[in-house]
Amino acid sequence: MRLAEIKQNIKNQLISSYDTVELNSLLPLFIEHVTGWNQVQQVIHLQDEIKPSWEKSFQEGVVQLLQNKPFQYITGKAWFLGNEYFVNESVLIPRPETEELVEWIHEYAQIVNKPLQIADIGTGSGCIAIALSLLLSEAKVTGIDVSDKALKVAQKNASTLHANVSWVQQDILMSASLPEKYDIIVSNPPYIPLREKENMENQVTQYEPAIALFVSNEDPFIFYKMIARLGKQALNKNGQLFFEIHYDQATALMNLLDEMNYHAELRQDMFGKDRMIRASLKK
Ligand SMILES: C[S@@+](CC[C@H](N)C(=O)[O-])C[C@H]1O[C@@H](n2cnc3c(N)ncnc32)[C@H](O)[C@@H]1O
Repeated sequence: MRLAEIKQNIKNQLISSYDTVELNSLLPLFIEHVTGWNQVQQVIHLQDEIKPSWEKSFQEGVVQLLQNKPFQYITGKAWFLGNEYFVNESVLIPRPETEELVEWIHEYAQIVNKPLQIADIGTGSGCIAIALSLLLSEAKVTGIDVSDKALKVAQKNASTLHANVSWVQQDILMSASLPEKYDIIVSNPPYIPLREKENMENQVTQYEPAIALFVSNEDPFIFYKMIARLGKQALNKNGQLFFEIHYDQATALMNLLDEMNYHAELRQDMFGKDRMIRASLKK
């Protein structure tokens, strides 16, 4: 079968499940994933016969896409701040709003202008910890996660991207302390109350790890509370907490941090949604 035919064939199979814009951006990436041909090469090879093994890979990929599997889990690749990360179903797919959190920390680090000790709690793919270590060459960064499978992914990413990060397996909800003292503790913890699950896209709830997403309806701030509590001992003088938050939880979370003796600042993401908090202990 020629590439042009297979391309049409894939389109026909996916058109009822994906909208045209999504499909048109997905298709060249899918073809590149299977053939290794970039977009220019795909045009050059359009009328070429493709290998039977590629036909098989295309068909397997289509089946997975029809089952709503996120494209990043099919290819095993996700982009974060210009770098390619390996991902599998043990880790959350890094999101663009998390890139903005890292950019905020980078901005802050440039103002402080000294080597920083940083902990990333709930590191998942390691994207926050690794990006910070690459951006701040003098920083000492530690990534913490309860999941050993996630930590394996994070370690693999650090090795591929030549990032110098230490990894610690620790259940933050069962911890009386953190491994060291830090200038920055960053976390994008699980923060979606379970009751929201039924309204979420099947693509997320079926494939992304529940342990990375959900918290109980009764105690949705459990991770923030715990980290803020641990931060009282583990933050160096002028130390900062940086959190990614649920856009709907900003006011309640700001109040909670205030009650816990933190001065907190809120930031919006590129869509104008309340998405990030920076907090430091009141003087
Ligand atoms: C929302 S994901 C964030 C992943 C990554 N930092 C990112 O921003 O893409 C939350 C992470 O917290 C981890 N996690 C969940 N419960 C935890 C716990 N009790 N202690 C430590 N990490 C936990 C999950 O394994 C998951 O990797």
